[in-house]
This record gives sequence, C-alpha cells and structure tokens, in this order.
Amino acid sequence: MGAFKETKLPADAPAAQKALGWIDDRFPLTKLWNDQWGRYYAPKSFNYWYIFGSLAMFVLVLQIVTGIFLTMHYKPDANLAFNSVEYIMREVPWGWLVRYMHSTGASAFFIVVYLHMTRALLYGSYRKPRELIWLFGFAIFLCLMAEAFFGYLLPWGQMSYWGAQVIVNLFGAIPLIGPDLSLWIRGDYVVSDATLNRFFAFHVIAIPLVLLGLVAAHLIALHEVGSSNPDGIEVKENMGPDGYPVDSIPSHPYYTVHDLFGVSVFLLIFSAVVFFAPEMGGYFLEYNNFLPGDPLKTPLHIAPTWYFTPFYSVLRATTADFMWVLMAAVAAYVCFLWLKSKLSFVTKVIIAVIAIVAIIGMLPQVLDAKFWGVVFFGGSVMILAFLPWLDHSPVKSMRYRPSWHKYLFALLAVAFVALGYLGTQAPSVIGTIVSQVATLYYFAFFLLMPWWSTMGTFKKVPDRVVFHAH
Ligand code: HEM
Repeated sequence: MGAFKETKLPADAPAAQKALGWIDDRFPLTKLWNDQWGRYYAPKSFNYWYIFGSLAMFVLVLQIVTGIFLTMHYKPDANLAFNSVEYIMREVPWGWLVRYMHSTGASAFFIVVYLHMTRALLYGSYRKPRELIWLFGFAIFLCLMAEAFFGYLLPWGQMSYWGAQVIVNLFGAIPLIGPDLSLWIRGDYVVSDATLNRFFAFHVIAIPLVLLGLVAAHLIALHEVGSSNPDGIEVKENMGPDGYPVDSIPSHPYYTVHDLFGVSVFLLIFSAVVFFAPEMGGYFLEYNNFLPGDPLKTPLHIAPTWYFTPFYSVLRATTADFMWVLMAAVAAYVCFLWLKSKLSFVTKVIIAVIAIVAIIGMLPQVLDAKFWGVVFFGGSVMILAFLPWLDHSPVKSMRYRPSWHKYLFALLAVAFVALGYLGTQAPSVIGTIVSQVATLYYFAFFLLMPWWSTMGTFKKVPDRVVFHAH
C-alpha cells in the first residue's frame, strides 16, 4: 500500500476548498463528479429527446421522496388501508398534495420512460456499443412495471383489488405449476391481507432497491461507452488535441442548463395535472378505486392502468378464433426464416422443431387460448430486449434511413397507442379485430426487422455531427 499523500493547499485557501481537498484525499468525490457529469463529454448536438433520461431520474427521486412521506401515514392492513389513504387525503397536513404527486408521478414516470425509449428507437441508441445500456434500461422497465403493479394494490380500492386478482390469476394459466404459482404469489386463495403485506414490502423496499442499482448500472455503462447523438455518429472516433472528442462538450454547465430547462417545463405540466386534473379523466386514478375493495362485488369492467394497456390488449386479442391466424403466422415465419435467413442449418432445424411443437400446442385440444394470451402478453414485452440484435440497419439514426422506414416506425407508434386505448375500453367486436391487427403488426415489426431494416436506399452519414448554434 502506498503512503498516504495529503494535498497541500495554500494557508489562505477558502475553507470550502480545504474541506473538499480533505474529502478528496479520502474519497474520490471530485473524481466521481467529473467522471459522471462535470467532465463527462457528451456530443454537442443533443436535442430535446435527450432530456428524458435526466427527467426519469428526477421523477424517480420525486417518487421515492413522496413515497417515504406516504409510508409514514399509510397502513398496510386490509382492514385499514383504504381508510388510511382517505385519512392522508383529508386529515394529514398537505397529505393530499403528497398523494397526488405520487399518483401523478407514477403516470408521469411511464410517459417519460416511454418517450426515453422512443428516442432510443429514433436514433438507434441501443445499437453497438450500447447494448448493455439498453438491457439495463429494459430491466429498469420491468422493475417499473412491477413497482406500479404492487403499488396499485395498496389503496385497496375496487380496481386495486380486482386488478391484482386478474393479473395474479393470469399465472394460473401456466400448465402444471400455474394454480400453485398464483397461490404462492397471493399467499392465500384470494387476494387478501397476506397479499397486501407482501406487495407493500415489494413496493416500498425490494423493487426500489433493485431499481436504484439498475439505474446506477445504466449510467455507469452509458459513461463507459459514451452517449450517442441524433446523427448516430460515434464522436469518440474523432478526437481533438485536448484528448476529448471534437464534437463533444462537458455536461456541466452545458447540459446542466439544458436539463434544468427540461425539468422546469416538466414541473409546469406536472403541477397543472396535480392541481387541476389529478384523476386525469380516470386514466391516472380510476373512479372505481374510490370505492373500498370488496371481494364479493366484481366491477363490471376491470382494466389495468393506462401504461399497461398496450400489452394487456395483446392478451385480450388472443381469442380462440385468433389462434388459427397465429398458427398460420408462426408457420409462415418459419418458412420465411428457412428461405431468407443466414442462420446455420442446425439452428434452422431447432427453430422449426420449436415452431412445430408450438403450433401443436396452439391447437384448441392441447392448450387453450388463455395460456397463449399470457405467452404473447409476456412476449410483447420481452421482445423489446432483443432490439439491439434485431436491427441490422447500416445506419443508426432515423435521419439517414429510407423514408419508408419512418412510416414503419410511425405505424408501430399508431399500433401501440391503439392497443393502449383499446385496452382501457370494454371489449367489443371491432375493438378486438383492431387489436388483433395491431398485435400482428407489433410482432411482425420486430420479428421481420432483421430483413426490412437492411432494405432501401440509405442516406450518407456525415463525418461530423450536424449542429446549429442557437
Ligand atoms: C428509471 C428509469 C430510467 C432512468 C433514470 C434513465 C436514465 C438515463 C439517463 C440519465 C441517460 C443519459 C441521458 C439520455 O440519453 O437521455 C440514459 C440513456 C439511455 N437510456 Fe435510460 N433511463 C431509464 C430507463 C430506460 C429504459 C426503460 C430504457 C430502454 C428500455 C433506457 C434506455 C436508454 C438508452 C439506450 C440510453 C443511451 C442513450 C444514448 O446515448 O443515445 N433507459 N438513461
């Protein structure tokens, strides 16, 4: 071990500088700040799509802080939970504000994260060398969904109760282990006090801990490889004499100001919702949830909160009739793979065998549509993890792709929003057909991406980032 070296500062140095020097000799505070932000050089051409990462961090902190205050007054007991939330709303000083900030924050979190993911799609941020940033992000997304799901049971309203009942019952559709698995998750034969206690534990400590760890990993990975930019150029390939990429600027103060502007605009919109429309027409806080959870009274229409509905629609679209279309789609996809893919013969055989087993399993006599609904529901989320390996486009950014690629992406957004909207509505014949078409498009977009992403005439990517000073 080397000898301890104390930094020598002039006797008249400011006290703050001396204190910082004392800390830096013992803990790399300044180094950490400089590596992660102060001297983290980022491309100078970030546009407003690049604000959502910092905004997500801001909302994460907001949720943790408001969550701590809610926990001080909330009672995780099936007999007391609903009234403790009413107590927070009516009796606890500023309790209504803390609660509305937390409930609005949950929806805001998903809006911000969906926009953050859209940016990744637009500019190919998930492409090499940023695959791990994407995978950590994907794991964050899974945790966020779990966090929202567990949290939604806590107010113990009708939607909390029946939403949890429906989702936990989905696990029951898994062959053999399903019924025991859902019993194990609930800790009882129905959603009950035991379920509430464990969901509370997951919501307030287990998932937030994992989430914080994953966000740290997400940012460490980002700062290792460097940020992308709207042109999809690797700025590190063009270094200046000072050892920094010529097209980069230090995050502080440039992006500190940029992100603070984003946070200000966010707070403006967020406050407007918190103060004037916290229920957001039943999308952020569902009306049925103002009634206490009643195990004996099933609400007419049970729907998850809006941020789950695109995936929930995939589940509902998987009807017994639609299974025949899906079987044909799986068979067609495997034929396509055999003809077009460069995979080895052995891999193709393995895929064909899996597909044949799946098609047999899809027959109504073998496994029912409910099971496959759960499979496609899970699949529609999991497929996102594979994006870095599905996109084979020679350019990263949408800017240099053929125009028709943009239409395919736009159509994906339309399909996703349509699925989301239909998932909030009661089932209807037309709604089911539209969600089936949207489901087919959603999966086709990703599964055929290795081919379509290479097709068409690509524009030339410039050597330097496109930047207009404002
Ligand atoms: C709590 C949630 C999240 C937080 C706090 C967070 C934070 C951040 C931050 C601060 C950045 C750098 C600034 C920026 O590029 O916007 C970033 C970049 C990135 N994030 Fe996230 N993120 C979250 C969730 C996600 C999710 C769910 C995904 C995708 C599934 C994702 C994918 C990415 C990618 C690919 C980048 C690299 C961007 C680039 O260099 O172009 N993140 N994230």
